[in-house]
Amino acid sequence: MASNIAVIGTGYVGLTTGACLAHIGHDVICADVDQHKVERLNQGELPILEDGLEEIVRDAMSAGRLRFVLGAANAVADREFVFLCVPTPQGEDGSADLSYIQDAATEISPHLLSEAIVINKSTVPVGSTRVVERALRRPDVSVVSNPEFLREGSAVHDFLHPDRVVIGADDQAAAIRVASLYLSLAAPLMVTDPASAETIKYASNAFLAAKISFVNAIAAVCEAVGADVADVVLGMGYDKRIGQEFLRPGPGWGGSCFPKDSHALVHIAENAGYQFSLLEGVIEVNEQQFDRVVDKVRVAAGGSLDGVRIAAWGLTFKARTDDTRDSPAIKIIGRLQAQGAEVIAYDPAIHHDIAGITVAADPYAVCEGAAALVVLTEWDEFKWVDLEKVGAALAKRRIVDARNLMDRNRLRQAGFDYQGIGRS
Ligand code: UDX
Ligand code: UDX
Repeated sequence: MASNIAVIGTGYVGLTTGACLAHIGHDVICADVDQHKVERLNQGELPILEDGLEEIVRDAMSAGRLRFVLGAANAVADREFVFLCVPTPQGEDGSADLSYIQDAATEISPHLLSEAIVINKSTVPVGSTRVVERALRRPDVSVVSNPEFLREGSAVHDFLHPDRVVIGADDQAAAIRVASLYLSLAAPLMVTDPASAETIKYASNAFLAAKISFVNAIAAVCEAVGADVADVVLGMGYDKRIGQEFLRPGPGWGGSCFPKDSHALVHIAENAGYQFSLLEGVIEVNEQQFDRVVDKVRVAAGGSLDGVRIAAWGLTFKARTDDTRDSPAIKIIGRLQAQGAEVIAYDPAIHHDIAGITVAADPYAVCEGAAALVVLTEWDEFKWVDLEKVGAALAKRRIVDARNLMDRNRLRQAGFDYQGIGRS
């Protein structure tokens, strides 16, 4: 049964949420404060790279079930459901900044239908449902938590094929109404209280970040004891309780969620009286991982980075996205530059200089005269490059593969000094 829905905020989360809700049959109005973004979206132009999203947006728009307006107040008048997908950035003290959520709630309050339901899709700290209720001052409007579990690069797939839909509500009738929006997805659906729903989101992201920090620490152990982390992870992952997923060693984790959400959860716990030292350790290991990669590049470049030219493949926080927010690649390049290196980067999704980094047009030009090449993002195209062209461009055939992406044997046969993560 189709419902009238508004989505406030059309970023990675809001645009995917609005387009997919329209795709499964609902009537959706999306609102944003960015006029240029609203105009481009109404032309069917997407400001973000997400597999399958452009097609879904265009189909839903031509079916008349999706449109974009400027300003939240213009989106909610006849809407039964209003999803809040505005940013919850990390504040100075590590806590989540809820000002956008509060502003959006205050703005829409006078325009909401009676019995409308406001839904927190943004990742918000435990207790935020109350914050929105207070900002709305509408006892006839329910507030429900419905956290997103979308991975960038596969956000459309993750929305349409969720492992679970989580709904946190005090009012069971409101929970059932929100659950009805997702019935066509035939996914596991759980209803709980708001605090538990909000905690599920943070705990899930923190656990995933912990898995990655754990495997990066195991990679360091492997290097020290002469083991191969690829085989160690394979051997671990056969245990269904561990699994193979999210155990790929790399340069450290980043993006717009893990860093923000892990710091927020430490802060939430501390405020509630629990010192979350395990999660603080997960964050610390991640910081150390950036420095481990920098050290590998320094050694590959002969022991010093001062005045040395380094080529970097990858700027985005992971492959198949154009998002560079909190990218480990950019953090590591910054630390290389801080030690005097002149770093040039190439990334298939980035076509302009960024964060004080010169960006080259192709993976070969970026290698011209460089003392070493470092692989920071796992774009498939790096696996298929012409190694002779790469070797001819580099001043020395030295490569640090921070994603264990490349074929180590092929590179060594082509005369490269190859360094990976957690393997000799
Ligand atoms: C962000 C956070 O990353 C995520 O953790 C949270 O759950 C939701 O917000 P994302 O979609 O990645 O998700 O943010 P972003 O890509 O920055 O998009 C936010 C959008 O909201 C932007 O288009 C911005 O213009 C818009 N916005 C921001 C509003 O419409 N109103 C505001 O008050 C502030
Ligand atoms: C994450 C969660 O996966 C998603 O459920 C949540 O809704 C939002 O945050 P996202 O940040 O888009 O999604 O990307 P993800 O694929 O989780 O990767 C996060 C970081 O971990 C990236 O920097 C990635 O390169 C890194 N990573 C991931 C690893 O280093 N190793 C892995 O095995 C997996």
